[in-house]
Amino acid sequence: MTPSFLIGNTAVVGLQWGDEGKGKIVDFLSEHADVVVRYCGGANAGHSVKIGGKKYATHLLPVGVFRPDVVSIVGNGVVLDPEVLLREIDEFLGYGIPISPANLKVSYKAHVVMPWHKAEDEAREIAAGAGSIGTTKRGIGPCYADKMHRTTAIRVADLTDENRLWERIERICSDRNKVFKALYDAPPLDARPIFELYRGYGRRLAPYIDDSTKLLMDAARDHKRVLFEGAHAVMLDVDHGTYPYVTSSNCSALGLFTGSGVPPQYVQNFLGIVKAYSTRVGGGPFTTEQDNEIGQYIRERGNEYGTTTRRPRRCGWFDAMAVKYAVDLCGITQVCVTLLDVLSGLERLQICTGYKYRGSRLDYFRADMEVLGEVEPIYETLPAWRGNITGCRRFEELPPEAQTYVKRIETLIGAPVKMVSVGPERTATLIR
Ligand code: IMP
Repeated sequence: MTPSFLIGNTAVVGLQWGDEGKGKIVDFLSEHADVVVRYCGGANAGHSVKIGGKKYATHLLPVGVFRPDVVSIVGNGVVLDPEVLLREIDEFLGYGIPISPANLKVSYKAHVVMPWHKAEDEAREIAAGAGSIGTTKRGIGPCYADKMHRTTAIRVADLTDENRLWERIERICSDRNKVFKALYDAPPLDARPIFELYRGYGRRLAPYIDDSTKLLMDAARDHKRVLFEGAHAVMLDVDHGTYPYVTSSNCSALGLFTGSGVPPQYVQNFLGIVKAYSTRVGGGPFTTEQDNEIGQYIRERGNEYGTTTRRPRRCGWFDAMAVKYAVDLCGITQVCVTLLDVLSGLERLQICTGYKYRGSRLDYFRADMEVLGEVEPIYETLPAWRGNITGCRRFEELPPEAQTYVKRIETLIGAPVKMVSVGPERTATLIR
C-alpha cells in the first residue's frame, strides 16, 4: 500500500549536506512508483541500498533499477559519466538485476563528463591548496561549467552522431590543451583515443537514449506515479547551499523542474530526508560539528564514510536552524528522519535551535560562508535512550526519549515527520 500521505508524484530531497539515506527511502517508496527520475549531479553521488542482506551502491543509476517494473530515468540535469554508468549497468546485470532499454532511459539532453573535466577538477583542487572545495574529483564542476559555456560542451545526443562527436572532441581538446598547459603545465590530451572511447560509449548507450520530458508527460497522461530521486542535498545546492562549499548543480528540490523537464505542478509531495544528526564531507563551515568522541561514536555507528570516496564524514548534532531553511526553500510537505538508531547509547542529545552571530541571535539561516564561519550554535539538550531500536516497527514502540527527540525536531523545523528509519533494511522503516 502506498503511504496515504504520498498520493501523487513525490520528490525525495536531502535537507542537509547529503548522505541522508535517500537511497534507502527511494528504494522503499519505489515499490509504489512506476517511474523514478534522477535530475541532478553525477557520479559524485552515492546511494546505498540494502536488500535482503546485500548492500548495493549506485552513483548514476536511479535506485528504481532494483524494481524491474519501474522505469528509471536519468534526466537532462544530470552530468553523465558514460564509463561509470556502463560499469554500473554491467555490475548490476552480474548480480542478476535486469537492466535494459525497457527500464532505463537516459535523456538526450544530459551533459557528458569527459576526461578533461576530471583532469581539470583534480588540477583546480590542487591549485587551490588550502582554499580547495574538497570535491569528489569526478569532473562535476568543470562539466557543468562547460554546459554554461556551451561551445565546449558535449551532450548525450552528441555521442551517437560520430561526425559531430569527432568535430567537438578535436576542437575542445585543442582548446583545453592550451589552457591546461598554461595553467597547470599538464601534458596534452590526444583527441583520437578519446573519440574512439566515447564513440564506443555512444554505441552502447544508444538504445537507452530517450526524451525525459516526453516520457514524463506520457507518464502523467497514463496516471503513472513518479518519484524524483534527489541527489546530494539542499546545503550543497549551488545557489542556495553553503557556497562555495557546494556541488555545481541545483540539488535542492528547486532543480528538479529544470533537471528533468517538468512544470512545478507536476509534483504534489516534497518528502525531505534528514539524518537524526548532521554529517558533511569535504570543506566548508559546519556549525554543529563534533570533532571529538561524540563525532567519532556517530561516525562508527553510522558507518559515516563516503559511498563515493570512502572519506570519513565530519559528524555533528542535528542543526534545526539549517534544516528549517531547507524545509522552507523546498516547500517540504513531509519529512523522514533516518539513522535514528545511530544515536542509541549516547549520554544525552543536543539539537541546534539557533545561531548566535556577533552577540545577537540570527533570525534566519544565512547561506553565506563568512557568516557561517563565525556563528555559534545555540543548543537544547534532550535525554537519550539506550538499547537497540532497529527492531521497532511502529513509532509507538520507540523508547519515549526517541519519540520526544523526533517530535522536537518536527516542531523546530515546521514540517510533519511521517517516516522514521531505524536500520538499513527496507523493513526497518516506520510510517507514522
Ligand atoms: P563535487 O560535487 O565533486 O564538485 O564536490 C563538491 C562538494 O560537494 C564536496 O564537498 C563534496 O564532498 C560534496 N558532495 C558532492 N556530492 C556529495 C554527496 O552525494 N554527498 C555528500 N557530499 C557530496
